[in-house]
Amino acid sequence: MVKKNVNKDFLYNIFSTKILTKNLYTHRQHLIKIEVMLLRPKVLVTRKIPDRGINFLKTQCDVDVSQQNGSISRKELLKKLKSKKYDALLCLLTDKIDDEILDAAGSNLKIVANYAVGFDNIDLKACTERGVIVTNTPNVLNQAVAEHTVALMMAIARRIPEADKWARKGNYKGWDPNGFIGTEFNGKTLGIIGAGRIGTVVARICNKGFNMKVLYHDINKNPFIEQEANARFADMATLLRESDFVSLHVPALESTKHMINHKELAMMKKTAYLINTARGPVIQEDALLHALENKTIAGAALDVFECEPKLVCHPNEYQIFTHLDNIVISPHIASATIEARQGMSELAAKNIIAVLNGEMPITQVNTDLKVNAIKKGIVTDAANYFYARNGMVVKNLTELQSALEKMDDSTFNFHVNANKNDFVNWIRNTIKDQVAVALLEKAKTRSQAVNAIKHRLKVMIVAY
Ligand code: GLV
Ligand code: GLV
Repeated sequence: MVKKNVNKDFLYNIFSTKILTKNLYTHRQHLIKIEVMLLRPKVLVTRKIPDRGINFLKTQCDVDVSQQNGSISRKELLKKLKSKKYDALLCLLTDKIDDEILDAAGSNLKIVANYAVGFDNIDLKACTERGVIVTNTPNVLNQAVAEHTVALMMAIARRIPEADKWARKGNYKGWDPNGFIGTEFNGKTLGIIGAGRIGTVVARICNKGFNMKVLYHDINKNPFIEQEANARFADMATLLRESDFVSLHVPALESTKHMINHKELAMMKKTAYLINTARGPVIQEDALLHALENKTIAGAALDVFECEPKLVCHPNEYQIFTHLDNIVISPHIASATIEARQGMSELAAKNIIAVLNGEMPITQVNTDLKVNAIKKGIVTDAANYFYARNGMVVKNLTELQSALEKMDDSTFNFHVNANKNDFVNWIRNTIKDQVAVALLEKAKTRSQAVNAIKHRLKVMIVAY
């Protein structure tokens, strides 16, 4: 049961005086029931989302789901937040969460759970300053977004929307050896910009399924994508020059804004396609329009847009944009599968319940906020990091062994192997066993890591 502080004496006084003095025992039962009702924390959900998470929230909280048609207006959101002292806010990527919203919510607010993996709609600093935990929904949507990315690659390379439109107009009069000629994937090069969780799944599908070569670029090397998709690290220029498909998987940050601009587009092959399922502002829209109009690249497939929900920032370019044949558009639907959306709903709800129970959420974004970690006696950065990612408290090698045994291989690969430095630093700082550190540094798989710990523990026992 989620706990909240209420003044029990105050409640008791109300119910034990004048009105309910006849049967103290029954009144106590009433009191407990009413107290339980009053103790339920309040959650605001800004739009109807799949029910799995909502139902879970309802088991422990009072849940208000906005019934507005479409996304909630800012005015309405402010009004709702001021009307009740909400403990948690489950919001969408279309809700801008900033100082004004947080002030309206007031000091009761403990968590903002974003129903998205991207969190560029949230002012993290403002949340952290107020001690508000922010969570997102990574992993549960990796497959959906990756599959949609591949669907867009196929749609643009095989000209499916263009052919569909043409055939619907009654143009198909007989098989044409020269009609709608496209490009094959086999043996082509895919360039992944942003080799995180989603980029890695795209790379794996394309390498394993289509025999594509994979290049990747990121701020750090990622051994996991290299291992999963035979991917090779490349600098931006090499990746852009050599790729037949360039797919973007970076978050929207100051540093990724207009990452693809005139200069980058000019480096791409004339026959290459650009795919964006990340965030619109990563591409400089005018530069892309220019490249598509002048056919300096073969085409683009976009799920996100610089001035979303507008397809183009400037209204006078709308006609040009929507009439180009070398572009495929989908309206920000990459995570739109039943599996992903139910998963996102459940994960957002679990994050909320965890925080309201005084525990660390599963997927915290502002991990510098350590209120809960400190409460749990976890004080180092790396332990906090590992705990936030995996929801496990680990203080020695035996506990680490059991944590790793409980973890599945893909979680290990995504959260441990791909963040090896953090992991190793954490072991170094908390467990302070240099031999174990060296062994774990070498371990590439979960079972190797477990075996390394077992080996180390055995040697230690013998030594004693
Ligand atoms: C969708 O764009 C997301 O960030 O989940
Ligand atoms: C992007 O959010 C990613 O996880 O790669």
